[in-house]
Formats: sequence, C-alpha cells, structure tokens
Amino acid sequence: MAEKHFKYVILGGGVAAGYAAREFAKQGINKGELAIISKEAVAPYERPALSKGYLFPQGAARLPGFHTCVGSGGERLLPEWYEEKGIELILSTEIVKADLSSKSLTSAAGSTFTYDILIIATGSSVIKLTDFGVQGADANNILYLREIDDADKLVAAIQAKKDGKAVIVGGGYIGLELSAVLRLNNLDVTMVYPEPWCMPRLFTAGIAAFYEGYYANKGVKIVKGTVAVGFDSDSNGDVTAVKLKDGRVLDADIVVVGVGGRPLTSLFKGQLAEEKGGIKTDAFFQTSVPGVYAVGDVATFPMMLYGDLRRVEHVDHSRKSAEQAVKAIKASEEGKSVEEYDYLPYFYSRSFDLAWQFYGDNVGDTVLFGDNDPASAKPKFGSYWIKDGKIFGAFLEGGSADENNAIAKVARVQPAVSDLNVLTQEGLQFAAKI
Ligand code: FDA
Ligand code: NAD
Repeated sequence: MAEKHFKYVILGGGVAAGYAAREFAKQGINKGELAIISKEAVAPYERPALSKGYLFPQGAARLPGFHTCVGSGGERLLPEWYEEKGIELILSTEIVKADLSSKSLTSAAGSTFTYDILIIATGSSVIKLTDFGVQGADANNILYLREIDDADKLVAAIQAKKDGKAVIVGGGYIGLELSAVLRLNNLDVTMVYPEPWCMPRLFTAGIAAFYEGYYANKGVKIVKGTVAVGFDSDSNGDVTAVKLKDGRVLDADIVVVGVGGRPLTSLFKGQLAEEKGGIKTDAFFQTSVPGVYAVGDVATFPMMLYGDLRRVEHVDHSRKSAEQAVKAIKASEEGKSVEEYDYLPYFYSRSFDLAWQFYGDNVGDTVLFGDNDPASAKPKFGSYWIKDGKIFGAFLEGGSADENNAIAKVARVQPAVSDLNVLTQEGLQFAAKI
C-alpha cells in the first residue's frame, strides 16, 4: 500500500485544522510540506453552523459558504486555497492506527502516512444512547449531530416528517439549539433532560428560567427530571415513541440526541500523557511526546488565568489553540519561542432571536441583573460569578458588540466587588466602567 511523507501532518479536518492551516500559510511553508488527513469528505468548515443556519427552513447555510475561517471574520478557505498553497487535503480518510514511535499513521484503507511533526486535531465524537444499551435506540430517525453527514441526515428527516413530532433528548448545547431550529421548521418539539434546569454546566437556575420560559412561549415543551429508557418503532424500523423513566411515553417521528461528547483520543492511548479525559499539553500545545501537538477539543492545557489544567469543547479555543501550536512550531524551528497561551474562556450560543456570550469561569456566588422577562420584546440580562470578592465570570444575553467586549474585560480583569446588591443594581453599567 502507498506510503507518503509530510513534514507536518494535521490529523483531523475540523475547525482547528482549518485555522492551523491558515497559520502555517501565514508563517510560510513550502508546497508539499503540510497535509490534513480527515475522515470527513469536505475541507475544514465552521462546525457551529451545523446546529444553526444549516438547518434553517429558508436560506439555509451550505458549503462552500461556511468553510473556515469565516467564523472569526477571516478569509474563507475553499478547497482551491489549499491547492494554491500546496497543502494536501487527504479527505474521506480515517486513520485507524497511530504509532508515535515510528511517526506513522495508518488509514482504514491501509495507506501509511509518516511525518516529522504531528498535530492531533481529532475533536470529539457524540455519546450515543446505544453506548448505554438503551432499548430500541438503534431505530431509524434517532439522530445525532457532529459532522456534516449527520446534519444532512437531519435535513432529510425534517423533510420526510414534515410538521411531525420531534423529541430532543438532552438539555445542553445541542438540546437547546436543535429544539429551537426544529421548532422553526414547524415540528412539534418536546425536550427531555434529567436535570432540574437546562444547561446546568453553565446556566444558573435564574438564567435557565429565562430560556425555558422563552422556549415555552415559542411552543417548545419541556420535560425535566427524567431520561429516555427505551424507544418504540414501526415495521419499517422508524422510531414512533420515546419511553421515559417516569413512565410517560412521548410520540416521536424524529429524535435528536445531545447527551454530550467524548474527546477522540483512543488512537493514542498509552502513547502519550493524558489528563482530565484529554491529551495533556504544555502552554504551546506540545504533548508529552516531542514533535506531537494536540489542539482543540482533545487538548488538556494549562489555563494560566486559573492556575489549573482544563479541556475546552468550544470553537474559540479550537481556533486559538491551533494558531498557538503552529506559531510555537514555527518559532522553535528558528530557535525562538512564543508567549505562553493565556486563554480567557469564551462560550456562546444562538437560537431563535436570542444570542448569549459567556466569558471566564462560572464559580462562586452569582448575581442576576437586567430584564430577564421571557415575554419582553428585547430581553437583555446577565449574570456575574463572584469568588473571593472578585468577579470571575460574566454572562450576557442580547448584548451589543461593545457590551459583550465589556463583560469579556470584566472576566479578564477580575475586578473586586464589595456589595453584591450594588452589583445587581449596576448590572451592565458595572462592566462599562472597567
Ligand atoms: P472538530 O470536531 O471540529 O474536528 C475534528 C475532525 O477530526 C473532524 O473532521 C473529524 O472527522 C476528524 N477525525 C476524527 N478522528 C479522525 C480519524 N481517526 N481519522 C481522520 N479524521 C478524524 N462551539 C462554540 O463555541 N459555539 C457554537 O455555537 C458551537 N456550535 C456547535 C455545533 C455543533 C453541531 C457541534 C458538534 C459543535 C459546536 N461547537 C460550538 C463546538 C465546536 O464546534 C468544537 O469545539 C470545535 O469544532 C472543535 O474543533 P476541533 O478541530 O478540535 O474538532
Ligand atoms: P452537553 O454536555 O452540552 O449537554 C449534555 C446534556 O445531556 C446535559 O446537559 C444533560 O441535560 C443531558 N443528558 C445527559 N445524559 C442524559 C440522558 N441519559 N438522557 C437525557 N439527557 C441526558 O453536550 P451536547 O449538547 O451533546 O453537545 C455536544 C458537544 O457539542 C459539546 O462538546 C458541546 O460543547 C458542543 N456544542 C457546543 C455548542 C456551543 O458552544 N454553542 C453548540 C452545540 C454543540
């Protein structure tokens, strides 16, 4: 079988891969030095579009419209761009074996790729209900969303089950974004999740109450405190109902499951150091194996701001970690170094007419400020997280670009606060003064 050598290989063709390729091109590479190997059939794209614009009933986003790097306001890297730069895009190619000692990767079809420097950018895979043996979970139209192929299956199901019933299992990012966009497609939508409120890993009860109220006003039904324990299907194998642990049964033509992701690190088990479920890196995203880097969802890296190690599953970090790794690689070739990665966590989501941003760390006490009435024409509200008398985290729904910049600054500067009542009254005004 064929064997090919590259100076640099990026394993994975998602968000981090696209931003790494752009940084390599900026820093200067020779034709034929860099390859991206991806099991997806298309060039790197902005994954967040899949749960938003890609599923709109009208004017849906389609490639090539959202190839990287448009997500951060940059140039769109079309397949031709890679060709012009002499970057080889090796698509529809799944790597099934990685041997870091011989610096080689083997594809499912048996091809071998060797490298001098490897960047692991394999991202995450979805956790499936079949992984826990949930009865009937392999029925047709029980769908997940990670890659563009999954999104195409969803589009086909939405068309096939027009105005039908959808059940969304999970109350996290996928749950909230998918229930909104399926409602926009005029499906009858019910969300089911085990926790007392949606997005518990970030939202406080107060923040969640706004979104749950807003979603209810849009006609989304919410069933909390229970999980799906089984599914019924018809003679074609199509799902017809979701059985809940509390005994209720929900009719369903489509089920979308968003119960979390898992970083794809299994190719490297035992070959490099891991931490907190990810591949352990330094502040330049180099792993415990020299010349092997890990970026994006798979990296557990030093979070300088909080003095600990973390893994982040969001797009802003995947872009910035990729750029940092490439800068560090290129600098080290010239015997130079770059500054350590100093990341301020940034997460966001959009659904219906809503858009929120969060910066920092959601630890400590919280205050809620602003207009959080789900029935308001233009709701605008937020929260601060306060620990040891300082603000660590800030959340804002409905903010302008300037207002979002202001809360980002608060989370970075960590100003001291003495009176939480005053902070609640000042709300966004407090951020504007920092
Ligand atoms: P990413 O998943 O982008 O890419 C991994 C690539 O590696 C894929 O192309 C995959 O096929 C490939 N791969 C994996 N194993 C392989 C193998 N063995 N061989 C070959 N190729 C392999 N974040 C945010 O901040 N705001 C948002 O709105 C959203 N929205 C959003 C929507 C949806 C539907 C998802 C799934 C995720 C988001 N995210 C998000 C999260 C964000 O998209 C995510 O953190 C980044 O895509 C991570 O970038 P990576 O490059 O690490 O992985
Ligand atoms: P998530 O971790 O955000 O949410 C998982 C949710 O699953 C939990 O909140 C819980 O409600 C629910 N859950 C867990 N077990 C369950 C069960 N047995 N039955 C019902 N519900 C159960 O994960 P996700 O929403 O699946 O997202 C997957 C990945 O995609 C994550 O990495 C996420 O960061 C990323 N993503 C991010 C965004 C964004 O940042 N805007 C958007 C979409 C996806």
